[in-house]
This record gives sequence, C-alpha cells and structure tokens, in this order.
Amino acid sequence: MTERQSMNRYDGKRVFLTGAGSGIGRATAVRLVAEGATVFAVDRDTEGLATTRELVDDPARLTCHTADLATEDAAVAAAGAGVAELGQVDVLANVAGALRTTPMTGLDLGDYRWLFAINLFAPVTLCRELLPHVPDRTGVILLTTSTAATKAHPGMTGYAASKGALLSFAVSLSAELAPRRIRVVPVSPGGVATPLTMDKERFDGIDVSWYARTYPLWGKPGEPEDLAAAIAFAGSADGAYLNGTEFRLDGGSHV
Ligand SMILES: NC(=O)c1ccc[n+]([C@@H]2O[C@H](COP(=O)([O-])OP(=O)(O)OC[C@H]3O[C@@H](n4cnc5c(N)ncnc54)[C@H](O)[C@@H]3O)[C@@H](O)[C@H]2O)c1
Repeated sequence: MTERQSMNRYDGKRVFLTGAGSGIGRATAVRLVAEGATVFAVDRDTEGLATTRELVDDPARLTCHTADLATEDAAVAAAGAGVAELGQVDVLANVAGALRTTPMTGLDLGDYRWLFAINLFAPVTLCRELLPHVPDRTGVILLTTSTAATKAHPGMTGYAASKGALLSFAVSLSAELAPRRIRVVPVSPGGVATPLTMDKERFDGIDVSWYARTYPLWGKPGEPEDLAAAIAFAGSADGAYLNGTEFRLDGGSHV
C-alpha cells in the first residue's frame, strides 16, 4: 500500500463501478478496495476484470460482472445484478468510456451513435436503474466526463460531444437530486496514460501533435492512480462539499 492509499474512507461502503477492466477504472477498483469498499465491478472485458481482481488487496470484496453497457438491456441487467449483490449502492462510479475519432470528412453518424451509447446512454441508464438503491444524504454519483467536454479536441468531435452531454447531464442531475442530498460529481480527466489514449492506431488520420501540447506541467500525461485518488476523494465523505460542478484533473492543461 502506498502512502496515499493509507485511508479507510470506504469501510462498509458498497460501490458499483464501471470500466474496472482497465486504466482509470482498474486503478479506482484497487484504490477503493484498499480503502475498505466492497465493489461490484463491471466491464465488457472479462479478462481485464480478472486482472483487476488479482490486483486488489482483498479479492473477496470485488465481484466481476461482464457486460457491454452500450445496450440498454445489458445496462439494466448489470444494474439488477449489482443490486442483488450489493443490496444498496453507496457510490455509483461510472468510469467506462470509449474513444473513436470522428473527423468530419466522410463522417459516419454510426460512430457518433456508438460513442453516445457508451459515454452517455450507459451512465444515464445506470443512474435511472440504481438511484432507487442509492441512500439519501450520503449517496454519491460519479460520472467520468473529460476535458474534451469543454476544451477543443480536433478530430474527436463525437467523443467531445458525448462527454459534453454527460457533463451537462451531471450538472442538472445534481440539482434534481438535491432534495435527497445525493451528490453528483462529473470528474473530468485530462490526458491520462491508459490504453484509451496510448493506442496510437485510434488516432489514425488526425494530428496528435496537438495533444502533446496539452501536458504543460510535466510534458507527459497523468497516471491512472492520480485519477483514482481524485475519484476516491470525490466519492467519500471528504468530498462532501463537491457537488454539481466539474472536478477537473488535467495537470494544468486547461490553463
Ligand atoms: N485516458 C484519458 O486520457 C482520459 C481523458 C479523459 C477522459 N477519460 C475517460 O476516463 C474513463 C476511463 O478511461 P481510461 O482512460 O481508463 O480508458 P481504458 O480504455 O483504459 O478503460 C476504459 C474501460 O471501459 C470499458 N468499456 C468501454 N466500453 C464499454 C462498454 N460498452 N461496456 C462496458 N465496458 C466498456 C473498457 O473495456 C475499458 O476497460 C473513460 O470514460 C474515458 O472517456 C480518459
């Protein structure tokens, strides 16, 4: 356990976590289990989930569920399985997301629909299904947006639009849930070193040199653990006054 994983803010907490098979979601699973959480981990990548389970401190507190959340039926089924396992959902952490470039020349709207299915409709469906099981006053909804929501990402209008829609959803949902005192936090990573961004083939046809200029502080992207630490804070009681506003972790690239 590293120095910054020394807290137990999640003792007794039950977390529904998507995207736990890789990158930021995997680091979040490791972090939350280390802090005492019981995690229902969802991903479309069965092997990725199994690897995550090997990495957590206590595998007995992480249940893996394979589902392609891009279909409403699968998202509804995953939510049902999660409630059956956890009973109540103290924190819903939506981390799963996908990236596909969408240059406007020859744009296929199917790419937009695909991006919106996983980046917007999946978390919206999970919110609808799981909110009845989120406790008033202490429950937290975390939605992983992106700096792409508010900062130019050439060649990625579809991804940016899906994340922008998710950010808007989160802001309004926070007001809708205010009477229940459930917090809603849109977490916006900047560049983070994960397969999502490190797989260069994804960026065929667009000028990636632009992105290299978005890491001003250290000249390199952040680490998944940096985001996991922020997500753990946002979902814990330490984040009690963080609600309905973009929680941006970008190493200063928005400056
Ligand atoms: N890495 C970055 O630079 C960066 C920047 C901004 C936002 N984000 C967001 O952070 C989140 C995590 O991304 P990451 O960088 O860890 O990427 P990643 O590719 O390492 O992990 C994403 C995970 O989501 C899962 N997933 C994707 N589509 C799915 C689907 N239809 N059903 C179920 N699971 C699905 C993948 O299998 C994968 O395990 C995403 O929402 C991403 O958009 C990442």
